[in-house]
Amino acid sequence: MSASADPTLRERLRRAPAFGADLPAFEPDEAPADPHALFEEWVLGAIDAGAPAPQAMTLSTRGADGTVSARVVVLKDVTADGWHFATDARSRKIHDLTADATVAASFYWPTLARQVRITGWAHAMGAAASAADFLERSPASRGAALATRPGEPLGSHAELVTAIADATARADEDRELVLPEWQVWVVVPEEVEFWQGSPERAHVRVVYRREAAGWTRTRLWP
Ligand SMILES: Cc1cc2nc3c(=O)[nH]c(=O)nc-3n(C[C@H](O)[C@H](O)[C@H](O)COP(=O)(O)O)c2cc1C
Repeated sequence: MSASADPTLRERLRRAPAFGADLPAFEPDEAPADPHALFEEWVLGAIDAGAPAPQAMTLSTRGADGTVSARVVVLKDVTADGWHFATDARSRKIHDLTADATVAASFYWPTLARQVRITGWAHAMGAAASAADFLERSPASRGAALATRPGEPLGSHAELVTAIADATARADEDRELVLPEWQVWVVVPEEVEFWQGSPERAHVRVVYRREAAGWTRTRLWP
């Protein structure tokens, strides 16, 4: 078969399935009054369903010059305050958030055809929470964090591997060693939108908005 008979990238993108086959139901009228509670239901559902990387949160920020940027981080917890993630204060995302606390975060669990979008602002948690998070990490993961110099040009991969091995040995030796730049941040929601895909395309979309009196909940056209 000639190469030209192969489907093009364009064709393959259109054929690739976006959702799982067996999608859960979602009835917004029966959903909790608080988006934190509904999010907890959905993320636990994703974990229980074996969805890959259920804790992967796409975090979008805007820098001082207005440039926007998105990346995946691990969701560490959800509390009444908001959605927690941990990172290095020298990273671009923290430079951005220090200049402009406005943030967006999103989750997509393809096998369940569920998306959650959050907009709001972010703030750092204190040194104690950040240190506790750092010390919960495995020695290898502490080593990788201690070794890195986020976003700086790197000469070779070997340089990184050596730096991680050295730092992991230090982390192994000193179980209390904390990277001073390690920080836990919280995304405080102003708006949280839940989207449930349906095979008939009658997707269900509901948005929670924070008002003075509490959360409002509105169904939206998809
Ligand atoms: C699945 C996955 C999980 C990640 N988790 C984190 C994380 O929890 N914290 C973090 O700082 N970077 C994490 N990263 C790396 C970030 O996506 C990003 O590359 C890095 O933090 C630098 O981003 P920045 O320069 O925009 O700040 C993760 C990447 C992937 C693909």
